[in-house]
Amino acid sequence: MAIYDEASKALAFKFSDCYGNSLMKISIIGTGYVGLTTGTCFAEVGHEVTCVDNNPEKVKMLLEGKIPIFEPGLEELVKKNVAAGRLKFTTSTEEGVKNGEVVFIAVPTPPQPDGSVDLSFIEKVAREIAVCLTPDLGYRVIVDKSTVPVKTGQKVAETVKRYAAEGCEFGVVSNPEFLREGSAVDDLLNPDRIVFGSNDDHATMIMQKVYEPFVAPVLVTDVESAELIKHAANSFLALKISYINAVGRICEKSGADIEKVAEGIGMDDRIGRKFLNAGLGYGGSCFPKDVKAFIAISESLGYPFDLLKQVEDINEEQRKLFLDKIREKLWVFQDKKVAVLGLAFKQNTDDVRESVAIKLIHDMLAEGADITAYDPQAIETAKTFGQLDGKVTFAEDIYSCVDGAEVLIIATEWPEFANANLSKIKEKMAANLIFDGRNLLDQDAVANAGFEYISIGRPATGSPA
Ligand code: UDX
Repeated sequence: MAIYDEASKALAFKFSDCYGNSLMKISIIGTGYVGLTTGTCFAEVGHEVTCVDNNPEKVKMLLEGKIPIFEPGLEELVKKNVAAGRLKFTTSTEEGVKNGEVVFIAVPTPPQPDGSVDLSFIEKVAREIAVCLTPDLGYRVIVDKSTVPVKTGQKVAETVKRYAAEGCEFGVVSNPEFLREGSAVDDLLNPDRIVFGSNDDHATMIMQKVYEPFVAPVLVTDVESAELIKHAANSFLALKISYINAVGRICEKSGADIEKVAEGIGMDDRIGRKFLNAGLGYGGSCFPKDVKAFIAISESLGYPFDLLKQVEDINEEQRKLFLDKIREKLWVFQDKKVAVLGLAFKQNTDDVRESVAIKLIHDMLAEGADITAYDPQAIETAKTFGQLDGKVTFAEDIYSCVDGAEVLIIATEWPEFANANLSKIKEKMAANLIFDGRNLLDQDAVANAGFEYISIGRPATGSPA
């Protein structure tokens, strides 16, 4: 493993000598969340980017400057770079392979029922790239950007070699992404680190050039280490969340306050305060899937990763314990008017994949609750992907959501909820009960406004009406 030090700077220097200062021609296969944001940000720093997607509707939409996802800042960047001629969209993989000296694979890697990763999209794209390669195109770097199990790079290399014509030259690289939904553009343009793994010096030099416009520490590893870094990093963050949620349970039993405990723990530089927010647990398209996948990968390599199984269990229990607390107060859910603030799996996104808020709503619906919900961005996705259409009333803002409610539940950490006018909420509600699943509200302020307030890992405040 080589860290970006004097040795790797020398590699970058050699590369500049060979290729001058021209920016790179890059293609991205797959314009989902990762592919679209990555391709757009590469164009933004000056590369010439071709984004390929096999869905003609999507490509048409993107060519018209319409973005299929809500991601702050993305739409503007897509429009700007399309207009500048640096960002193109096509359905043709052949065009992508022809145009891109570097071809990124950014297709889905969904979980299978046993938690292992379905790699059929990766395999298919590897074959498609292979048949588009021709010896006259020259050397191509094939980069895996999708989150994949360790050793996938080897399989991609074998597959491309098997299906490509004689004399085609290529190298395979693993380049995991670390972008967070809701701040993906900033994470990509100002990354805290860039990691790529390659077993081929030529490919390494080209990757240095791809990332030359970015100011960030670069870690160059072998392919397998880069692949593992992604699963290990996400699993560690999930572990941090489950750890603080477990400590929160001890706080509840002992009268301690998880917010103060997290602050005290986080002041240790070796631990850090980030990702120590107790709440309903983690959701989204990455953590649940990646933890499951890492457990399955470890198992297949002969190591049963029991620690991560505990991480999953704690996460699942977190929602159930919260539900128990609400049920204990309400006695029964049947016919209770419940207001839920938050549907997205976290703030600043319309994504409801593995959203704890959506699961909580389904749990309460199953017990007969009458639910009104509001989210600043995720109402449409909650209706369709969250399967809540016709089952829940959707409100246009916080105050119409709580109108007549007997209980208010905060399920997503949108800043808008933290700044809500508590007196106005109190006037609108039919009772004075708030359950805060994200510890967003100030305990004193809620108690002063006359609410009974129950949150996570903190003593309850206010008294029953
Ligand atoms: C994550 C990683 O952060 C990112 O680096 C990786 O590339 C993809 O997966 P993302 O899924 O967009 O990003 O969301 P993130 O901000 O990490 O939050 C994940 C979940 O954890 C959310 O449900 C959030 O509510 C929860 N969370 C986060 C907590 O419960 N407590 C915390 O302290 C932080």
